[in-house]
Amino acid sequence: MRIGIPAETLAGEKRVATVPEVVEKLIKLGFTVAVESGAGDAANCSDEAYRAAGAEIIVGAAQIWAESDIVFKVTVPSSAEVEMMRTGITLIGFIWPAQNPELMQQLAAKKATVLAIDALPRQLSRAQKMDALTSQAGVAGYRAVIEAANAFGRFFNGQITAAGKVPPAKVFIAGAGVAGLAAIGTAAGLGAIVRANDTRAEVADQVKSLGGEFVKVEYEEEGGGGGGYAKVMSEGFLQAQREMYAKQAREVDIIITTALIPGRPAPMLITAEMVKSMKPGSVIVDMAGERGGNCELTEAGKAVVKYGVTIVGYTDLNSRLAKQSSTLYGTNLFRLTEELCKTKDGIINVNMEDDAIRGLTVIKEGEITWPAPPLKMAAPKPAVAAKPAPAPHGHGSGGAPASAGKTAAIFSAAALLFLLIGAFAPPAFLGHFTVFVLACFVGYMVVWNVTPALHTPLMSVTNAISSIIAIGALVQVAPPLLVGLDRPDEWIRWLAVAGIALTAVNMFGGFAVTRRMLSMFRK
Ligand code: NAI
Repeated sequence: MRIGIPAETLAGEKRVATVPEVVEKLIKLGFTVAVESGAGDAANCSDEAYRAAGAEIIVGAAQIWAESDIVFKVTVPSSAEVEMMRTGITLIGFIWPAQNPELMQQLAAKKATVLAIDALPRQLSRAQKMDALTSQAGVAGYRAVIEAANAFGRFFNGQITAAGKVPPAKVFIAGAGVAGLAAIGTAAGLGAIVRANDTRAEVADQVKSLGGEFVKVEYEEEGGGGGGYAKVMSEGFLQAQREMYAKQAREVDIIITTALIPGRPAPMLITAEMVKSMKPGSVIVDMAGERGGNCELTEAGKAVVKYGVTIVGYTDLNSRLAKQSSTLYGTNLFRLTEELCKTKDGIINVNMEDDAIRGLTVIKEGEITWPAPPLKMAAPKPAVAAKPAPAPHGHGSGGAPASAGKTAAIFSAAALLFLLIGAFAPPAFLGHFTVFVLACFVGYMVVWNVTPALHTPLMSVTNAISSIIAIGALVQVAPPLLVGLDRPDEWIRWLAVAGIALTAVNMFGGFAVTRRMLSMFRK
């Protein structure tokens, strides 16, 4: 079968539905691929690159639509594109059937089979590799932080320079779904102090694992509406949330809003009053601009300055990272094609018995099949009785866990070793050995309980403390009366003086560096 890739016609859209790397894989699956000339130009994919990957380059969209068996697209097709479409075509791309009932009718009239990538049942773990909503929201979340950094007049990370100390930027992320989590990871990676809030309490751990702090609303209400999506919250909760957001607006430098409840207009979270209360030079990036915005003053598609705050409402964040978005989108569609063509012979089979394929097939050969029936999720497996741990070798069934037995064996071996050393080693050695073992133990426990981020200052402080050897050198240079020893040879004295000088650098330098490093972690 022939897969056609027309250039996107939506104004400002820079993505393309596949990239040369993916074309090669589609050809290996047995398909031929035709790409409209210039379709990938804005995403840094030249006609030459597609040609080198094995695609045919065709001038003009009409031939693509008229001669392809399958068409891959990013955005919803326009009426003009549907006009050009061959009867009985298979179309794969974003369709949003609930918002586009007219388009659905037009496509049905063309006897098309339409797979809407936005209708993929995301709860199926098998569907993750095809989840274009997730891949695109991840790129957009990243780009939102880059847009914020571009509009913000300072560093994101705290720095200590010869010219003075720069505090880290404070970033607040509203909504920790796919885009929000990507934004948290990116902002934390740039060194900012990141805080986030979501109505679904279950995301708190994910926020923390990405380096953010989860800010709770002081109101008990669970915000999960099932399937990983949010529900509309009570007025009491929203009031408490507004108070918390107002406090954050006064404190932070950047707000990135990503809050969304599927099928609803974007929840209004940042009021004009909150914008007014922000520091001059602050930035808001409102990702929900297209759905009315999470901020009262957002102008969709534009960056505006109000009350000294830059409010970015771009709705084309994916196009602003076109190559990355196209590569991930193309890979999502390739994974879907693999599912449709398990025989690897270049022929697709839209199997309506397959939950994932059924979910995203919104029109089958001209018949509207949207919405798909609710998924029958597999019932949880009955708990299988845990197998008893195998009995330790040479003993009865015992019942003690294997790891406990192993620990006991290690301790017994260590005690035996100690006993042997005690019996045969000279008494002085035993004393030193005990101190050595205890030092190892204490050192291990100290290092283990310090967060990895603080290991560098820990190393520098222990380095400074190790300068205790200076005492040995002092003993060597001190007058014999003071320490009660014979005066050492002159050359030993000078060696000790050099030792003291060197260790002093280590000592004072170590403490100074530790102080500087720790001040970078102080928020
Ligand atoms: P998602 O559904 O994965 O995440 C939305 C999150 O908002 C959920 O975790 C939800 O619990 C949370 N939420 C809902 N109501 C809330 C409230 N009142 N307070 C706090 N959190 C709340 O959605 P995803 O994929 O992360 O997309 C986020 C937004 O980004 C959407 O509005 C989407 O349309 C937009 N988007 C914008 C792009 C652009 O170019 N501007 C590109 C891609 C996505």
